Amino acid sequence: MPMFPEYLIREVAEKNDIYDVVSRSVSLKKTGSSYIGLCPFHNEKTPSFSVSPRRGIFKCFGCGEGGDVIGFVMKNENLSFYDAVAKLASNAGIQLPEIKKEEVDRDRKRKEKSELLYAINKDAAEFFYNNVKTSQSAIDYFKKRQLDGRLVKYFWLGYAPESWTALFDYLKEKGYTESDIYDAGLIRRHESGRYYDYFRNRVMFTIFDANSNIIGFGGRVLDDSKPKYLNSPDSTIFSKGKNLYSLNIARHSKKSFCILCEGYMDAISIITAGHENTVATLGTAIGEHQAKTISRYFEEVVICYDSDSAGRNATNRAISVLRSQPKLKISVLDLKGKKDPDEYIKTYGKARFDALLAKRQSDMEYLIEYFGEQYNLKKSTEIVSYISELSNYLRLIPSSVELDVYAGIIAEKTGVQPSSVIAQVGVKRAGNSSSPGGNSDIINVVGKGTAVSDDREYLEKTRALLLSTLFYDRKLYGKYASAINEKMFENPIHILMYGYIKECFEKGENPSQTSLISKFEIKEDINTVSGILALDVQSDDTDRAVSDYINQIKQKGGTEKALRLLQEGAISLEEFNAMINNKG
Ligand code: UTP
Ligand code: MN
Repeated sequence: MPMFPEYLIREVAEKNDIYDVVSRSVSLKKTGSSYIGLCPFHNEKTPSFSVSPRRGIFKCFGCGEGGDVIGFVMKNENLSFYDAVAKLASNAGIQLPEIKKEEVDRDRKRKEKSELLYAINKDAAEFFYNNVKTSQSAIDYFKKRQLDGRLVKYFWLGYAPESWTALFDYLKEKGYTESDIYDAGLIRRHESGRYYDYFRNRVMFTIFDANSNIIGFGGRVLDDSKPKYLNSPDSTIFSKGKNLYSLNIARHSKKSFCILCEGYMDAISIITAGHENTVATLGTAIGEHQAKTISRYFEEVVICYDSDSAGRNATNRAISVLRSQPKLKISVLDLKGKKDPDEYIKTYGKARFDALLAKRQSDMEYLIEYFGEQYNLKKSTEIVSYISELSNYLRLIPSSVELDVYAGIIAEKTGVQPSSVIAQVGVKRAGNSSSPGGNSDIINVVGKGTAVSDDREYLEKTRALLLSTLFYDRKLYGKYASAINEKMFENPIHILMYGYIKECFEKGENPSQTSLISKFEIKEDINTVSGILALDVQSDDTDRAVSDYINQIKQKGGTEKALRLLQEGAISLEEFNAMINNKG
């Protein structure tokens, strides 16, 4: 993958001061040894974007973006790795050797192909939009759903005519090839080899990505036939599981929360009612990637799904998925009988929707109430099932204070001790989420469910601090090298980082941020590594800190590892107890 020799990439990074480069587009203020400013990669009012010239890295503690100077230029100017290095090299007057032409070409071609697919989709969207004027059935349909001309235009709604090739012909006329139109997901291939339009006789909803490129469509039938909606197939630019409808609008909202709904029409109605901070999934259950996207732009998400049983189940599933984002607050809107938000707003109006929104419940409050209606809490056996069911969600709570609050509410509702509720959550954490009921032996060893998870978080942080300190301090590494080994780390990123630091120091070289970062390809990993490199050890006595870190990891690490093995079923309870007691 690397197209330049590593030493040159290092040189390019070292000769471009990250403060100089970043401050050309971000205004930065000095705090201690680093600088801070408003993050260019997400919307924020208080600065959480930090630049450390000493370490040569940037890191946003709001959205998580991070990297070295090359990564910054790539993200900030939307350049490929190659182009960013070339640009920085020319800044610093470094001569770059000729590189393999095919690799540059491949990189560039991929970009050009995406641009082409956006353009085809844009022409298709215009085609659909222009058809509305001449189609009485589309006009009638929009009218029936209270979508006036202004909304049709604003949301790029349209109509795909009842024809086998109208769009195909139109796009060929524009000069696009069959295979590109096919790759954009707008035509299908018949066995005979002929192509025909994918969307026919449907009202069209245009789907944009976060940067307002048109990436796909949802097409709805005008009557009750099936399938009700047809969506563009997934392609190199469109993924139903990853993109979100209307994110391009919502991400610019100044509000701190976002409303999450299930349908195109729901999103349009909610936005029209004054909540531009609304997104919808695209016909698939919400996934972790989408949860991450939401958490990147918003502090809170309000789930506003259909009120039928499918919608209720989807709400519960969404809570589990959204809980993967520790910083994201989750709330739920209960539509009290109305089918979906679109119908609610059309029946009761904006004011009542706003009032409902103001009264939204936290996810756990909602679940406590929801499952409370499914069980008869006057019967002790049902109370057990109720708490067991709830524990599947309570176990996702990262903070012990939050868990205590909900355990208290449940205790009050059922008469069960809060500590028993918490113990049950511990069982769920240790065992498999889907197997309710419990093994009382496990309660005894991992009953303090929250303590276990807090320990784990604390340990991961300690490991990161250790790595960050060693990275910048050859002397300390030398002093403690024999006390540290790979087994102290569990996260593959930590293991790789430790291996890299060790290798550098043993070769007599200093570790380089750029070389380390270039070992990772996935954006999330790069952000994690940058986060570690940005960690500031708050200690005047780093020597003492390192020795403390090592001791803590060795002590607590044993328990943590044993617990993980127990959870994975790799060891028996007996072996678990032996491991804990022998850790010394
Ligand atoms: P719904 O069936 O709840 O439709 O599907 P809706 O949004 O209320 O639609 P209207 O009000 O009848 O027009 C919710 C979402 O699920 C996806 C679509 O994205 C839709 O907006 N869906 C639904 C499909 O992809 N295919 C289908 O056949 C149905
Ligand atoms: Mn609807």
